[in-house]
Amino acid sequence: MTTAKREDGIVGSSVTRAGIVTGGASGIGRAISRRLAADGHAVAIFDRDGIAAAECAAEITRAGGRATAHQLDVTQRAELQAGTDAAIAAHGPLWFLVNAAGWDRPTPFLDSDPALWARIVDINLYGPLNTHHIVCRHMREQGGGRVVNIASDAGRTGAGNVAVYSACKGGMIALTRSLAREFARWNILLNTISPGPTDTPLLASFGDTEGLARQIPLRRLGRPEDFAGITAFLIGDDAGYITGQTLSVSGGLTMV
Ligand SMILES: NC(=O)c1ccc[n+]([C@@H]2O[C@H](COP(=O)([O-])OP(=O)(O)OC[C@H]3O[C@@H](n4cnc5c(N)ncnc54)[C@H](O)[C@@H]3O)[C@@H](O)[C@H]2O)c1
Repeated sequence: MTTAKREDGIVGSSVTRAGIVTGGASGIGRAISRRLAADGHAVAIFDRDGIAAAECAAEITRAGGRATAHQLDVTQRAELQAGTDAAIAAHGPLWFLVNAAGWDRPTPFLDSDPALWARIVDINLYGPLNTHHIVCRHMREQGGGRVVNIASDAGRTGAGNVAVYSACKGGMIALTRSLAREFARWNILLNTISPGPTDTPLLASFGDTEGLARQIPLRRLGRPEDFAGITAFLIGDDAGYITGQTLSVSGGLTMV
């Protein structure tokens, strides 16, 4: 842990630490990884796309930051445990966990089948269950930590053709609130960021998103960078009295 020194020479209250970003090789997770590293934090990028994770870690390292790439699947507990052990060996105690790994294939519910449901639930619900179970145990042992979960406004308001995904994201929001109550005694604080439609490879895979921006009060899709500053805030000391909250970052698409 090191205390950050601002350009004007004043020692600020911010502290640099180490942690994990799942799905940190692409889209929202990648922007978060880059921002946390730019703030001086050491970032372990957990992603099933090992090549993209290595590229992201190399880019951060070239810019003078600290990052390691860990190819793993969040649905596989043994891989996650090994990745967590490797991250601790590389960076020391882990203070933050950002769960950004996620996936969906939009399908009308009555045309979907249990094999697709299993895949969606595995990645979007069992994945976070696994990461919390493994990483929060470590946080408890080392006296605290911060979790930022990237859910979706689909999990708050519902959305067409993504029912199972929405159920998982709603589950993630409820999981965050429940664990925030359970883990507060160990100084582990958990919050959820709930994105609206955001310009990433995942959204591009959904096909035509032409009309979406018109429904958003700020008249544009989200950008991955829109989620970086709020994550930096939530893992920092200024957010030390905030836990169990859900914040929609959606250009005003939802306001409840
Ligand atoms: N893009 C949007 O419009 C949008 C909206 C709401 C919520 N979200 C959520 O934001 C998060 C990031 O999505 P994105 O749009 O940046 O997507 P993305 O596809 O650009 O990035 C997701 C990353 O997660 C990784 N990943 C997927 N499954 C994994 C697994 N099982 N194990 C390890 N890594 C895995 C992928 O390899 C990829 O690098 C997701 O949780 C998504 O559900 C996205």
